[in-house]
Amino acid sequence: MRSPTVTLLLGQDGWVEHVDNGIRYTFDVTRCMFSPGNITEKLRVASLPCAGEVVADLYAGIGYFTLPYLVHAGAAFVHACEWNPHAVEALRRNLELNGVQDRCQIHPGDNRQLELRDVADRVNLGLLPSSEEGWPIACQLLRKGTGGILHIHQNVESFPAKALHLHSGHLEEQQLQQCPEQAFSNRQEDQRNCRNPKDADRTDSGRETPAAMARAEWQRWAETTGARIRILLQQLHGKPWRTNILHIEPVKSYAPHVDHVVLDLECRPLS
Ligand SMILES: C[S@@+](CC[C@H](N)C(=O)[O-])C[C@H]1O[C@@H](n2cnc3c(N)ncnc32)[C@H](O)[C@@H]1O
Repeated sequence: MRSPTVTLLLGQDGWVEHVDNGIRYTFDVTRCMFSPGNITEKLRVASLPCAGEVVADLYAGIGYFTLPYLVHAGAAFVHACEWNPHAVEALRRNLELNGVQDRCQIHPGDNRQLELRDVADRVNLGLLPSSEEGWPIACQLLRKGTGGILHIHQNVESFPAKALHLHSGHLEEQQLQQCPEQAFSNRQEDQRNCRNPKDADRTDSGRETPAAMARAEWQRWAETTGARIRILLQQLHGKPWRTNILHIEPVKSYAPHVDHVVLDLECRPLS
């Protein structure tokens, strides 16, 4: 729910208005959270080429990403899911404030119960520390004939000690048992589209810098996520899919050695 612990000292209610990037957001500060730290991601979403697309925003909140998709990115329609009734009320007001209420359907309640399927060109999964519980519904929402793009948020840890136990390969082993050729070709494709951890910055003594280790950890997380989403899509549709890491966006440092990143993952059915 991300409910704040705020006490109102003065005034009748906690409703405020905040404007960023030309979008008006109203919300009750005593009931809903607002993440100023996500501004770079909101600006990036606003610049995505979404003209004519149907987008699903699984963790819509008060519309932090739903509104940039509608107002700036040119999305034709957004399905916005949210289970906090106070956030749903703010989202409803925000759609009207910005004149885009006709291009958005709010789905109040737990997004994992959503009946909707086969509608989205793009799915936004903006939940921390992980949106993993939303991956199956995101796969269900993607258009089964053409697929689309997932924007997957995650807090990725890169504790130095963790680097010693890297990448157990468990997932790939699992996929190798199910579909050996595809596990191999998908991994090669993922590697072609990503920065190679071996190219990362090194200190004079040849050791990887903390920043380089963090990037390598994001890359490993993205590759594992791509493989897991591919398996989910294959299980859902009973035919092979490919996933392709388009981009990994660092949003903010969440805590020491913990970074909030967004993976842009292209998912397409193989003909
Ligand atoms: C971090 S906030 C999202 C805000 C926005 N995406 C951002 O990053 O600024 C997460 C939102 O997802 C909602 N949420 C979490 N789990 C959910 C679920 N299973 N179904 C629907 N909404 C959910 C919470 O109520 C909260 O408003």
